[in-house]
Amino acid sequence: MRAVVVREHGGSEVLRADDWPDPSPGPGELVVSLAAAGVNFVDIYRREGRPPYAGAVPFVPGAEGAGTVTATGQGVTSFQPGDRVVWSDAPGSYAEQVIVPERSAVHVPAGVSLEVAAAVMLQGLTAHYLCHSTYPVAAGDVAVVHAAAGGVGLLLTQMTGLRGGVVVATASTQAKAALAREAGAQHVAGYGDFGAVVREVTGGAGAAVVYDGVGQATFDDSLAALRPRGMMVLYGAASGQVPPLDPQRLNAGGSLFLTRPTLAHYIADAAELRWRAAEVFDQVASGELDVRIGGSYPLADAARAQQDLAARRTTGKLLLIP
Ligand SMILES: NC(=O)c1ccc[n+]([C@@H]2O[C@H](COP(=O)([O-])OP(=O)(O)OC[C@H]3O[C@@H](n4cnc5c(N)ncnc54)[C@H](OP(=O)(O)O)[C@@H]3O)[C@@H](O)[C@H]2O)c1
Repeated sequence: MRAVVVREHGGSEVLRADDWPDPSPGPGELVVSLAAAGVNFVDIYRREGRPPYAGAVPFVPGAEGAGTVTATGQGVTSFQPGDRVVWSDAPGSYAEQVIVPERSAVHVPAGVSLEVAAAVMLQGLTAHYLCHSTYPVAAGDVAVVHAAAGGVGLLLTQMTGLRGGVVVATASTQAKAALAREAGAQHVAGYGDFGAVVREVTGGAGAAVVYDGVGQATFDDSLAALRPRGMMVLYGAASGQVPPLDPQRLNAGGSLFLTRPTLAHYIADAAELRWRAAEVFDQVASGELDVRIGGSYPLADAARAQQDLAARRTTGKLLLIP
């Protein structure tokens, strides 16, 4: 089969389309014919070999996708050939055929295309756990959503709104600001003035929560934008890693909470994965949640997709199509 293969860690040029052995399913595994793979920031970190994401080379990157089951291994009970499935954590997803553990696979509901399923899985589950579990947004809460026109950002803005939250979004361009507004953000600010907007909107009190996937560039102002006992949810580092922090800053900021969550811990077992995925797909199927596919690239153009994502040229979700 054809796959994208990384033979040494490095820049996007190490992503090359190549031949790779056809997979066969081990016990508890499915082989899936890929319809679309999702592109995520973590794919870039793995390509670069950045700790703690680095693995051995050579490898096929990607972890997210959707497609049709072609074979099942011993002991598989929930899936059969022909089923449409989606996943967020099957290594080797930038390939025509993907091995997906049964535990990681979710049935794609009727009425949802495989492309939309691949586009919403990882970032939709992430947006879901952030606003339902890490900090469960209550009606009237003011929530800052950084990079609101991005993949996670557009979904998180919508889901926060569905819970009755008031979103103060950030975005770097007017076009991205317009997308954030369409997703339901009541206020859209720049990275330099979101703190002032939060103060104005809350009468000086501060935000209940900041969802920050940008990291280094926004962290200090995000902490400063919180109300006493507010929660700083640092879930990514698109602008770089946040340096080590003195816990006394949380005291000085008003007994703040800081968490650095990751999806794997919020789909901790099959039941939690299925519950979260069902809620996300219900919202997609009912039309409550709009999934924006900002770019589709041929599988062989994975390098260009990752370059565009890293260079802030994208909105919504990026897909690779075999
Ligand atoms: N912890 C988890 O469970 C989890 C799960 C999924 C994703 N993530 C993280 O969530 C973040 C967003 O992921 P995503 O896939 O949805 O990406 P994305 O938001 O679609 O793309 C990143 C966006 O971040 C903004 N940004 C600000 N400063 C940047 C910089 N210096 N370089 C690049 N981008 C910058 C850009 O939007 P503007 O141009 O509007 O600034 C850019 O479009 C990433 O940090 C990712 O690692 C975490």
